[in-house]
This record gives sequence, structure tokens and C-alpha cells, in this order.
Amino acid sequence: MKLLVTGGAGFIGSNFVRHVLREHPEDQVVVLDKLTYAGRMENLADHEDNPNFSFIQGAIEDREVVAQAVEGVDAIINFAAESHVDRSIEEPDAFITTDVFGTQVLLEAAREQEIGRYLQISTDEVYGSIDEGTFTEESPIDPSSPYSASKAGGDMLVQAYHRTYGLPALITRASNNYGPYHYPEKLIPLCVLNAFAGIKLPVYGDGMQVRNWLYVEDHCTGIYTALTKGNVGEVYNIGGPDECPNIEVVKRIVELTGNDESLIEYVKDRPGHDVRYSLSSAKIRALGWEPKTHFAEGLEETVQWYRDNEWWWGPIRSGEYLEFYKRQYGQALQ
Ligand code: NAD
Ligand code: DAU
Repeated sequence: MKLLVTGGAGFIGSNFVRHVLREHPEDQVVVLDKLTYAGRMENLADHEDNPNFSFIQGAIEDREVVAQAVEGVDAIINFAAESHVDRSIEEPDAFITTDVFGTQVLLEAAREQEIGRYLQISTDEVYGSIDEGTFTEESPIDPSSPYSASKAGGDMLVQAYHRTYGLPALITRASNNYGPYHYPEKLIPLCVLNAFAGIKLPVYGDGMQVRNWLYVEDHCTGIYTALTKGNVGEVYNIGGPDECPNIEVVKRIVELTGNDESLIEYVKDRPGHDVRYSLSSAKIRALGWEPKTHFAEGLEETVQWYRDNEWWWGPIRSGEYLEFYKRQYGQALQ
């Protein structure tokens, strides 16, 4: 198959490209990515010489670029998004442009060029927060942040294109990912790098919010399963095997980096903060998928990856990142 992977220079997209090129050498991968602050060619550096890999720089909301990128592909997998909740609270516009309008441009190109399959990479955040029990694919959409609302908008368009035009499209909704190449504005990599540097680890509110952690490689196998075995018109949840409150995650990072808990700092809560996410993955498990990595083991591997790859994260913690950090946490990083 020839796959168009949009947003393939970001965290999950680049892990997916690596997964496909390694596990499915019969496939070809074209990445289309705007290279925003979150998209980096460093994430794809190991494929430069791979004849099955090519890269186009461009935005999914740009009809011309998209029409060219889509030509001759068998499937589109759309990872491209503005993905950080805190940035969506500060400045929502780009989220609407990319996550809603960009998705519609891709769907339209897929329709015009009769692409065989369109897979939208979505999130458990579209369901909102759940105090008890677990979300299934039938749970109502009830997003809390401009980010999750923009993702919900994208999902609605995918379903509308399937129902109205018969586009062979489907959606996956995953829980919180972690692992290599995770941009350090998100909880786990931010705390790991702060801990390496002996800088405070910011915990929002009381730290009792629960996330359903999914190792990124397990997400990639879930996406490939849905792509090749899923039914069009369907939604598939891809949830991690373990739930954990934020404060426990941060305490574990403190331990793994040889620090003590005085490094933890409780800071102002996130507005509209979802208290708990929890996903039932029974539907994709029925297609033969299961997650392989438990949180304890995956977190240890992730900390080790950051220890070994300062070449990757060192340059990020400068420039725009420092400005965002100061606005977000009310203090300079150094
Ligand atoms: P990321 O922010 O690391 O990467 C996003 C990528 O999209 C970057 O390479 C960026 O350059 C690119 N991009 C942004 N706007 C673009 C545009 N207009 N045109 C083309 N490319 C553009 O995000 P991520 O964490 O890798 O998430 C990838 C996808 O998975 C997103 O759709 C997100 O909603 C979804 N998701 C993420 C998680 C998670 O825990 N990170 C969980 C579930 C679902
Ligand atoms: O659930 C899937 C979603 O997971 C994806 O759709 C998003 O793209 C992805 O960013 C992630 O969203 P979260 O908001 O859950 O991830 P984040 O790492 O930003 O925060 C995780 C939890 O940690 C959340 O409850 C907020 C909290 N937090 C976050 C940061 C950055 C803190 O306590 N301190 C922090 O400094």
C-alpha cells in the first residue's frame, strides 16, 4: 500500500512512520507536514535514505498541496493537528484551521480522487470527562476544551463524508500516548526533562486527574489494525492498559530520575480540566489488537530514551518554547 501520512513529523505520526517502514516493508509512506513548532524533520531523520519514504512540506488546509500529495495513494491517515490543550486555551484559532478545516480539505481531496481508505486519528478527549466507568464508541461526544471541540468537529465531518458521499472513512480514538519523540510541552516529557535539570515539576490543581496511558508503539499497532481490518463508517477506541493519577505519574518520574518529591510544585489548575479519561477497547481487541506495554515498564523505557537522546530534545528547549513556558507557568524555565 502507498500511505499518505499527514502530520507524520509529529510525535505519534513519526512513530507510526517508523513502525510501518520497519514492520511492513511492502508499504510506501509519503509524509505531508506543515512543520509547525511540533513537527520536526529530526523525528524522521532515520528514513532519509529509505526508498519507501518521501516527504512533502505543506499544510492540510492548502487545497493545491493536498491535491498533489493525495495523487496515487491507497490510503490517507490523518495525524495532522494542533494537539496541545493548554495552547488551545491560550489561542484557539489554529485549532479550528487545522483540526476542522484542514480535515475537510483532506476529506474533499479523498472524495475527488476516490482514495480507497481514509483514517482519522482522533482522541478520547472528544467524549469529555468520566468519573466512573469507561467510554465506548457509543458514548456521546461532549468535549471540554477548544482542542477537543476541534477534534470532535473533525470527527463529525469524517462521519458526514462517509454517510453522505460514501467515503470509505473510519476513525480511531486513542487515550494519552507517551514514549520517544514526545514534544516536551506535555506532562511526561516536560517533567522528565525538568527532573534531569533539577527544575520544579508543575502539577495542575490537586494532581488527582486520571489519564489512561498508552505506549506510542501500541497505538501504532492499533492504527495499523484499524487501517487494515477495521470497517468503514466505524469508530475504534484504542485505550492504554493502565490508568494513573497525574501526581502518581510525576512521583514515579521523580523516583526514576533519582530526585526527591520536594521538586514537585502544585500550580494553577487548567480551566475546564477533564478529571478522568477511560476507554473501553473491546471493539478493536475483537480485531486482534492488544497493548503490549504496561505503564511502569513503558515509563522506565521513556525516561531512558530521553536520557540517551539529548541531541533530540536539547535544541527544543529554547526560543519559542521558553516564551510559551513562561506564559504557561508564570516563571522562566532556567
Ligand atoms: P503533535 O503535536 O506532536 O504533532 C502534530 C503534527 O501535525 C506536527 O508534525 C505538525 O507539524 C503537524 N501539523 C500541524 N498543523 C498542520 C497542518 N495545518 N498541516 C499539516 N501538518 C500540520 O501531535 P501528536 O501528539 O503526535 O498527535 C497526533 C494526532 O493524534 C493528533 O491528531 C492528535 O489529536 C491525536 N492524538 C494524540 C494523542 C496524544 O496523547 N498525543 C492521543 C490521542 C490522539
Ligand atoms: O487523551 C488524549 C490527549 O492526551 C490527546 O488528545 C492530546 O493531544 C494530548 O496532548 C493529551 O492531552 P492531555 O491534556 O491529557 O495531556 P497533557 O500532557 O497536556 O496533560 C496530561 C495531564 O497532566 C492533564 O491532566 C494535565 C496535567 N498537566 C499537564 C501539564 C502540561 C499537569 O499537571 N502539569 C503540566 O505541566
